[in-house]
Amino acid sequence: MSAVAPAGAAGPAGPATPSAEPPLLSVQDLSVTFTARRGSGRSEVRAVDGVSFDVRPGRVMALVGESGSGKSVTSLALTGLLPARGNRVEGRALFAGEDLLTVPRARLADLRGRELAMVFQDPMSSLNPVVPVGLQITEVVRRHTGAGRAAAKERAVELLGRVGIPDPRRRVREFPHQLSGGMRQRVMIAIALACDPRLVIADEPTTALDVTIQAQVIDLLSTLVREQGTAMLLITHDLGVVAGVCDDVTVMYAGRVVEQAPRRELFARPRHRYTAGLLASVPRLDGPRPERLTPIPGTPRDVVAWSEACAFAPRCTAGDDACRRGDLVLAPDAGAGAAPGHLVRCVHPAPVEQP
Ligand SMILES: Nc1ncnc2c1ncn2[C@@H]1O[C@H](COP(=O)(O)OP(=O)(O)OP(=O)(O)O)[C@@H](O)[C@H]1O
Ligand SMILES: [Mg+2]
Repeated sequence: MSAVAPAGAAGPAGPATPSAEPPLLSVQDLSVTFTARRGSGRSEVRAVDGVSFDVRPGRVMALVGESGSGKSVTSLALTGLLPARGNRVEGRALFAGEDLLTVPRARLADLRGRELAMVFQDPMSSLNPVVPVGLQITEVVRRHTGAGRAAAKERAVELLGRVGIPDPRRRVREFPHQLSGGMRQRVMIAIALACDPRLVIADEPTTALDVTIQAQVIDLLSTLVREQGTAMLLITHDLGVVAGVCDDVTVMYAGRVVEQAPRRELFARPRHRYTAGLLASVPRLDGPRPERLTPIPGTPRDVVAWSEACAFAPRCTAGDDACRRGDLVLAPDAGAGAAPGHLVRCVHPAPVEQP
């Protein structure tokens, strides 16, 4: 299979997919360290460690990794929603030229919901249970666009229709508990879209839904991205979701990026053995039926500090002394036929399988 991206250079912190369109969001060397007082000293946990990726208009960047790999902490750092104390955020996150990590809080609050919208996993905890869904949408519309009550209500009806909720004029009057899980997630998406955001950050938007509804919601998000040129950061642990919708993939393990590539390239020639393991553990309908799925041995807790070795080494079939030199760099894949923008952090990349 051939790569999808045009040629271009990519350094260790370079873009996943070189393209003519400049990135709307450029995350550069983002680190988040949680600090806690322990006895007389302090303990530090580096949950996100030097993460870089770009998100471009009309494209979906997926952030993938097992539980605890730092995906949500990354999104919370970008949106200024980490707890006010007990953490240190470093790096840059340029959104249309403004650094989200250093803009004043009032400016960030203004950007959130207008230019930058979020969709979270659990709509029930994000929606207000005692306010009709229509009113929750009109509040956002009015706050950010200054529209009058009647115009905002019309917009709420239009948005609910656009996210595929039948009979939206009736549904605007209903409370969250009167809607199904899939519909509540659609309401969340409608709220996120209320102000025509330029960037949507969706953290596990379909995890709480059953598979058929998952597919519908993913389809809806991808249509919006394509039709409106929105940029999207899609956070998920599910490579099946990624296959259906994204353009570029960033794979995280223990707080660091281990591999980054255009989606087709990553699926066709995964080079980090963690990525290969994730792919081998996804059921596929488009190939010969394997005897059984291959789980990745060990658990995400079996990690060593990146400063001492590749954090995945304890679970890796190819792990040896070379992996324990510490502080490996994310570098362009040196293998034959690598697509531009394919970066990998590994001493012994997986062999490239012939198509
Ligand atoms: N407020 C906090 N204080 C201390 N550690 C935290 C805090 N929030 C997250 N962490 C730690 O940061 C690491 C990354 O967590 P994060 O929630 O980003 O994982 P995730 O990749 O989103 O996982 P999941 O797929 O389960 O959502 C975890 O080890 C977690 O325990
Ligand atoms: Mg998470």
